[in-house]
Amino acid sequence: MPKVNFKNLDKMVEALEGQSILDAALDNDIALTHDCGGNCTCSTCHVVILEGMENLSPKDEAEQDQLEMAEGLTPTSRLSCQSRVFGDVALVIPSNGSSQGLASDPVFKIGTPNG
Ligand code: FES
Repeated sequence: MPKVNFKNLDKMVEALEGQSILDAALDNDIALTHDCGGNCTCSTCHVVILEGMENLSPKDEAEQDQLEMAEGLTPTSRLSCQSRVFGDVALVIPSNGSSQGLASDPVFKIGTPNG
């Protein structure tokens, strides 16, 4: 089973092949914000992929359009509700996409996905 590493939560979970990152998070009690319920109409489920972009389903036009509304957009940003997992992935949840107060996490620096 693919593994999803939520780096700034220090939490690694297993996902079903083809499961969205959002569903993998919710199945493992990770409170990833998803205001539109996973319908690609908000962008609150924004995550930044650090490793394994090639293991995700490709981004479609609807996701790209919605992503452009996300605060702190980076070249490796994805909407977690639209990104299906087919292999191991590592990511961070920007502070605006989580209710867990990650803005204070000194490890997380947006725009430096490899740092
Ligand atoms: S939950 Fe709204 S776009 Fe993903």
